[in-house]
Amino acid sequence: MTVSAWAPTSNSNSAGASPPGKSSNSARRFSAGKKKKTMKRTKITDILSSTSYGQEVCVKGWVRTHRSSKAVDFIALNDGSTIKNVQIVVNPDDCQVCGVANATLKDVTTGACIAATGKLVESPAPGQPSEIQATAIEVYGLCDNTYPMQKKGQSFEVMRKNAHMRLRTNTFGAVMRIRHNMAMAIHTYFHEHGFYYFHTPLITASDCEGAGNMFQVTTKNLYDLKKDEEGKIIYDDDFFGEQTSLTVSGQLEGELGATALGAIYTFGPTFRAENSNTPRHLAEFWMVEPEVAFIDQEELMDLEEDFIKYCVRWALDNCKDDLEFLNKMVDKTLIERLQSVIATEFVRLPYTKGIEILQQAIKDGRKFEFPCNWGDDLASEHERYLVEEHFKKPVIMTDYPTAIKAFYMKQNAPAAVPGASSAGTPAAASVGYKGTVAPGPTMQGTDVLFPQIGEIIGGSVREEDYDKLMAEINRRGMETDKLWWYLDTRKWGSCPHAGFGLGFERLILFVTGMQNIRDVIPFPRTPKSAEF
Ligand code: 4AD
Ligand code: MG
Repeated sequence: MTVSAWAPTSNSNSAGASPPGKSSNSARRFSAGKKKKTMKRTKITDILSSTSYGQEVCVKGWVRTHRSSKAVDFIALNDGSTIKNVQIVVNPDDCQVCGVANATLKDVTTGACIAATGKLVESPAPGQPSEIQATAIEVYGLCDNTYPMQKKGQSFEVMRKNAHMRLRTNTFGAVMRIRHNMAMAIHTYFHEHGFYYFHTPLITASDCEGAGNMFQVTTKNLYDLKKDEEGKIIYDDDFFGEQTSLTVSGQLEGELGATALGAIYTFGPTFRAENSNTPRHLAEFWMVEPEVAFIDQEELMDLEEDFIKYCVRWALDNCKDDLEFLNKMVDKTLIERLQSVIATEFVRLPYTKGIEILQQAIKDGRKFEFPCNWGDDLASEHERYLVEEHFKKPVIMTDYPTAIKAFYMKQNAPAAVPGASSAGTPAAASVGYKGTVAPGPTMQGTDVLFPQIGEIIGGSVREEDYDKLMAEINRRGMETDKLWWYLDTRKWGSCPHAGFGLGFERLILFVTGMQNIRDVIPFPRTPKSAEF
């Protein structure tokens, strides 16, 4: 039995332990060379995999349910280490209750926090390997009937209003454990593949990305802003001496890392002040951004596909209990969908071909809310049609019109048709697409579109040619004074490179089957909502 506790004790689980609440202060104190005498807590996940029947154990957690029969009481206890509860069997005549003054067994209601000490026995009840016959219960904290999570089957809306307490529910426990596991998968994948974890700043003075509206960072007195003759705010006396904001992406700094270290990834909070009140958008979300030198579009797509499959496989391998719970309670097709994603080859689809498919669908009677002509940014409904109805697999969409993508993407070679680029771009050729010539210039974007989610990854090959990049910057009328350091990478030792950004919460949405992005981050930040 693996025993894990987060108290720095090293004693065994059995001999010499005093029941909770009975241990004297001196036994609780640490003294040099002496081992702590209080009974060590065992996590419920370890209890449930233990066969050390007859051993005395101590578990601590929050009461899920408490029911009384004639002779004994049953308490289902959960400590967050697993979705599963351990059953505490209490004979009221045989079990001392202490802790909170005057607390009795009857006060140990749903939500209360207790320590239970007793014998681990094989359980006669179906569906659980073992249970604990309690001899002592220490009540840490009572929980009255105003506890908002008391009722089973609360709606997600109600739980969102109680984000501080929803973490104690089965669903949020499962989601948070999976979230942790996905972070571990990400770090492990990149570490194993020779990428360096590279920390890019959260405060930035440039909005080169243009990915979204930014949140300003200032120490200025907002009631007394100094302005110049044109009415523009003077930032000279601000903390950084210039206008600064929270970053919308670490990519541009990530490129500096990749063009020195070869392969890096960032993984951190990202901020976008878009007023997008959708189940897929947060104002503060986490993004994973790998950036790699010397890879082309084909290799970038290989990386995107391999990485995302690795994460999904990790969830299937390491989060079995939580996935089974979510599959039962939230989304009956979840596990099947996860398995199908790792077993399928993603479709690689030039944007121009995607538009052809969508227009054919419209001709065949399919209705969409938004238009989709060549040059339009695809709406989520279009992405999901391609993924869920047409191909029934994840799609990597490539070679987007220049006008709807960021300035830094690698430009495809123009075709013979003036102002147009060929459908025979490297990605299109690699999937054998020889269809319509794109009616305008395109760039080597590679977004990954997922069932249920839509865009989960946004990526591209980067334009490494200084002159082409500058021409695009000028064409867009962008200011370059804050971009000089980025442009220097193209001046000195420029190299082909590519990268992508994965929205961490969108990955968690996919892996958990949850429907709303507000329910896969502990404390969501969305328009008009920054509580907790
Ligand atoms: O497509 P995006 O905007 O790409 C970039 O920011 C690039 N700089 C990434 C790169 O190439 N290094 O964002 C990347 C991903 C999206 O595909 C989406 O999954 C997620 O970030 N994302 C959001 N997730 C939650 N809330 C939002 N408001 C999001 N905006 C983007
Ligand atoms: Mg995008």
